[in-house]
Amino acid sequence: MDFRATDTSILNWSGDALAIAFHEEAVNVTGDVAKLDEKLSGVISELIEETEFKGSAGSSAVTRVGGGSQIRKIIVLGLGKAEDSPLENWRLAAATAAKVAQKERCKTLGLGLNLWNNDASNTTQAMVEGVALGLHKDTRFKSDPEEKKSFLEQVDLLGLSGQEDAIRRGQQIASGVILARELVSAPANQVTPVTMAETAQQLASEYGLSLEILEKEDCEKLGMGSFLGVAQASDLPPKFVHLSYQPQGTPRRKIAIVGKGLTFDSGGLNLKPSGSGIETMKMDMGGAATTFGTAKAIAQLQPDVEVHFISAVTENMISGRAMRPGDILTASNGKTIEVNNTDAEGRLTLADALVYTEKLEVDAIVDLATLTGACLIALGEDIAGFWSNDDTLAEQLRQAASNAGEKLWQMPLEEKYFEGMKSPIADMKNAGPRAGGAITAALFLKQFVEKTPWAHIDIAGAAWTDKEKEYTGAGGTGYGVRTLVNWILSK
Ligand code: BES
Ligand code: MN
Ligand code: ZN
Repeated sequence: MDFRATDTSILNWSGDALAIAFHEEAVNVTGDVAKLDEKLSGVISELIEETEFKGSAGSSAVTRVGGGSQIRKIIVLGLGKAEDSPLENWRLAAATAAKVAQKERCKTLGLGLNLWNNDASNTTQAMVEGVALGLHKDTRFKSDPEEKKSFLEQVDLLGLSGQEDAIRRGQQIASGVILARELVSAPANQVTPVTMAETAQQLASEYGLSLEILEKEDCEKLGMGSFLGVAQASDLPPKFVHLSYQPQGTPRRKIAIVGKGLTFDSGGLNLKPSGSGIETMKMDMGGAATTFGTAKAIAQLQPDVEVHFISAVTENMISGRAMRPGDILTASNGKTIEVNNTDAEGRLTLADALVYTEKLEVDAIVDLATLTGACLIALGEDIAGFWSNDDTLAEQLRQAASNAGEKLWQMPLEEKYFEGMKSPIADMKNAGPRAGGAITAALFLKQFVEKTPWAHIDIAGAAWTDKEKEYTGAGGTGYGVRTLVNWILSK
């Protein structure tokens, strides 16, 4: 997909589909739109009237333009109310335009989205993200060439010349989101701990990141008994992946992203029964996927921030070597864990990952994990839950998520609930009672972070969607990449 910023106005643009956008309270044909409408013998006002187009966010209508005109189709897009029109509505409008153009088999699309008083740079970036993500279709596992066809080749951003940097940013971020989506959507026989390490290797060599992969023996030396307990039933070797991005000059700050990397979660001996969604547990590396996707974007964006990307990657399987319910594991900080449920495995892998990460002496740690069904039940598919031991970090994340158009809701780190994790025989159990399950999971992780500002994001709902959404097909969503990038870039 080629993006081009131009100063051509909607009056002079020629191509297959021209999209123009309206705020809800201003669906009127005035100014240049009126002139164009006249030139096209009233087709725009007709379209608005006939489809009762009201300009609500995400809405659209399309029609063909007759006889020998310079454009073939007109698309009208809704931006919602002007006063509460967030960046997200521009992202959505652009994605909608691209999807409509694609469906109408257009090769070129002109986006005539008059920016009024908006911040042109961020709006351009959001629109490019919308187009790139809206058009992304995962056809890797389809064999029919018809399914792989794409029509749209070029998108012109009208009146936005000079926004080339913002276009590039949007494309770089979208490439990271798409990597995360594809890692999550690929099945567990294709994305394994071994291929995850290979993907990290490719990212490192292609984008100049540093990479350290700790093999099982290295993890043993570091005493990562908690991570290795989860890994021990798999026929595939665990891989502890540490990618890092180092800026040219002195970094303004140092941060770390940690992602849960279960390429498949069978539940272990506390096996997931059928009907529990076991067949979607290829998504259980969603945190690691977001971590890799963010690494891909950051390596291209080159901010003046040092960023570490960490994931303890393995499968949670069953075999004669599997950890048993009741086994006691010792994590790399010396804490002992009674495994009362082998299906609460993510936190066991994250425990050692967090201990390792804190030794890097970063200014803040954010972990992402498809951690609990309880979080999915509490907040649904669209909203991720987050917990933090630091109010400043929490506020930064809220802001970053809002600009990214990703929904994030803070949950309490209610210390009292840790009582449910007390073990009579070890320092703690790995699973608490059903009630408050997402909170006790967060409190468990907290045992492995001593003093660094830290936030935990539970993406059990947000990492995956069964049905197509605004600009996400069914499968992995790439949730979190845009939020993390915004957070890393923010001052
Ligand atoms: N990977 C799952 C959580 C999950 C559930 C992710 C649904 C995405 C969709 C996690 O490892 C798990 O099994 N958690 C258990 C914890 C329980 C045993 C304390 C859960 O949520 O049931
Ligand atoms: Mn599990
Ligand atoms: Zn899991």
